Amino acid sequence: MYLTDYEQEILEGKHGEGTRMAMEIVIKMGELYGADRLIPVKRAHIDAAAYTTIWDAGTEFIEYLADHGAKCAVPTTINPLSRDIKNWKELGASEKFALKSKRLEDAYLKMGVIPTWTCAPYQSTNAPHFKEVVSWSESNAVNYVNSVLGARAERLPDMVDVCCAVTGRVPAYGRYLDENRKGDVLFRLEGFDDTWFQDSVDFAVLGYYIGEIVVNKVPVIEGLPERTMPDDFKALSAAAASGGAVALFHAVGLTPEAPTIEAAFQGTSDYEIRIVTPADMEAMEKRLNTATSDKVDMVLMGCPHLSANEIAEVAGLMKGKKVCDGTQFWIMTCETQYNLAVRSGAAQILEEAGVVITKDTCLMEMDEGDRRWEGQNFVTNSGKAAQYTPAINRVKIHMASTAGCVKAAVSGRFSGEVRR
Ligand code: F3S
Repeated sequence: MYLTDYEQEILEGKHGEGTRMAMEIVIKMGELYGADRLIPVKRAHIDAAAYTTIWDAGTEFIEYLADHGAKCAVPTTINPLSRDIKNWKELGASEKFALKSKRLEDAYLKMGVIPTWTCAPYQSTNAPHFKEVVSWSESNAVNYVNSVLGARAERLPDMVDVCCAVTGRVPAYGRYLDENRKGDVLFRLEGFDDTWFQDSVDFAVLGYYIGEIVVNKVPVIEGLPERTMPDDFKALSAAAASGGAVALFHAVGLTPEAPTIEAAFQGTSDYEIRIVTPADMEAMEKRLNTATSDKVDMVLMGCPHLSANEIAEVAGLMKGKKVCDGTQFWIMTCETQYNLAVRSGAAQILEEAGVVITKDTCLMEMDEGDRRWEGQNFVTNSGKAAQYTPAINRVKIHMASTAGCVKAAVSGRFSGEVRR
């Protein structure tokens, strides 16, 4: 692999052992993928923040880097932790478990991360610009910045993402290269009236449907409404990246690399075409709905973390109501969006209604073996949560719109309607 003089110096240990080790790993991974050079980045986002993702061995590795002088070379935000920093006790974490998360947090802080602890950094402080090369991980965030912002990102593996942030370099491979950003499959939406795509749950279901079909190819979507909002794209990005492993999609007329179908396919015409109808979406909804009883134990929103705008929408619907006895309603977000929700008054409305707003963390990362939610029925508007919580927390799922989530929380029952 070609290295600049500066990169060679890092590899020789002239900038410290931690940075040297990080560079060695970045180069090894680049070689595995056939990269012939490294690309400098100006910003990074790290996924490997939850103790339950990287466990003791991963924690020791991060501590090793931090103790040997490794620092983030560029502004670097970071994913949710395994604990809510202020309220971990109230949320049921044990002291032993909280301390393990704290060890990892301390190592990252020593390395100079910006402590956002969120999986949606693009809605807070870290939004790359068009064509900017970034060191990125967290599957929804990679898909979002690649597709919606037109940045250049790849699904970097956990730990390698840390090494890239420390060296300020990524290997030149995959979606970093323009030729790998061409669409592979056209999804043409047909037969959808104006009642569709009014709520992010439709974007989640569509994302999951497309992700399952293309896995890691590049889908091009034709027919999404012009009113599609960033939060809708967030839902679509997360679901496509977890139903499949989509790292990049194009939405014709809406995302920057797809002003036209021709542009999305880089002028080629040998692509597959699939028609998506309301019946396909309804069949997907049915498959995601695994709960057999209408009883609701938990309503979970915020996978990925809710924006202040989404929190305000939920607060508007919850105003004057209460979460039903026997049902929990959790909203996951980060401290930054939470503070905005406090300023707008939305957070107080929700908390008075009995909604739990978690910060810095993710329900799927909060357990070290205990099965507190096992067998419960969850209601969520998130395609990613519909994929992860049954596997990680052993729960069953009903998908619902934002209004449907609120109704389920207030009544303790699922209405049977995904989109109302
Ligand atoms: Fe975020 Fe956890 Fe979902 S990290 S995207 S809330 S699985």
